[in-house]
Amino acid sequence: MNTNIDNLNSVRKPKIFNQSMSFVEGWYWVLPSQSLQTGEIKAVTIFGKDLVVYRGKDRRAVILDAYCPHMGTSLAEGKIEGNELRCVLHRWKFDAEGICVGIPNVDEPVSLKAKTWPAAEQYGMIWVWTGETPQQPLPFVLDWENQDFDFSLGSQFSIDCHPNVLLLQGIDTQQINLVNKLPLKMVLEKQELNQNAIIFSTITNINGKSFWLNLYRRFFNNSFNYSVCYWYGTTSIVSFTNDSTQLHIIFTTRLLPGGKTAGQTLFMCKKRQGILGKLINKLILKIGKKISDRLLKTNDKILETMQFDLKTPLKADLSIMQFINHLERQKPLTWESWLLVRSREREEEVREEREKREKWRDELVND
Ligand code: FES
Repeated sequence: MNTNIDNLNSVRKPKIFNQSMSFVEGWYWVLPSQSLQTGEIKAVTIFGKDLVVYRGKDRRAVILDAYCPHMGTSLAEGKIEGNELRCVLHRWKFDAEGICVGIPNVDEPVSLKAKTWPAAEQYGMIWVWTGETPQQPLPFVLDWENQDFDFSLGSQFSIDCHPNVLLLQGIDTQQINLVNKLPLKMVLEKQELNQNAIIFSTITNINGKSFWLNLYRRFFNNSFNYSVCYWYGTTSIVSFTNDSTQLHIIFTTRLLPGGKTAGQTLFMCKKRQGILGKLINKLILKIGKKISDRLLKTNDKILETMQFDLKTPLKADLSIMQFINHLERQKPLTWESWLLVRSREREEEVREEREKREKWRDELVND
């Protein structure tokens, strides 16, 4: 097959793909929006970093490092006052930017900031960007900017398999045909949308009969328009589309310690008008849930025992290699610190921040 040594090396000896402590800078799911009410604080651990998420009076979700910058008390034990969070131990108060805005019995302002992380809410989920400033948008459906859509949340799932390996099942065409017994000859075309997103798509005619194929034909006719768009190697949007009907299934995942996956499914379709339109969309979203449950169940045991190593790539494995190479070109971050891997500059910044903080503490002590 047409490949080169560099590509093969990154496939056989990846530094990010399928590595137990590797992830890239990006947007990742935190919690379903509905599980964080106004005035609530929740503790979460994402890529080894302990965080708290809270929702103040303005209903905005705020994400902070979990421990108080004064003495390390868990901010999850604190209390929300308006849009601010008060630490439970010495009652220091932090605003939504993490700035310390009040210390009981201390009049002069203290220049101190709890570390905050960019947060967003979309598709009924709270998301965090694992860097200082978001460089890319939240995962989105291609050509759907400014479109109205209906969506529903599916189930959370976990599997003893790396997110990258789990999600590439969507482009493993040999497996899709064989396991699902689909009478298709699928050839995927790839397109890189940006540094962090890549889409694989195909339009194939379907023949044959089965319950699933008949159901599919009811909505999508004889043409199998299928695409999988990957964001940050850990969120995939699996799309089935035709001119009138679209179904998008989002599998958004996070890496857990030990190379396991925690994930959440979401379903989306274009908004339809009227009661009938709403009913049709409800049905489409339900079908999405059925398909996603089936996809997650089909290979779970195989994936949990698999030692992924693409030793003998065939032409049919080209998309898998392209996915791995795309992921290998992204910015890897360090587990727990979320610093860029081998970033001297960043380490320098952190050292300066630490020195400033220590200087401030020394000044306080000397006073
Ligand atoms: S530990 Fe939080 S205010 Fe002291």
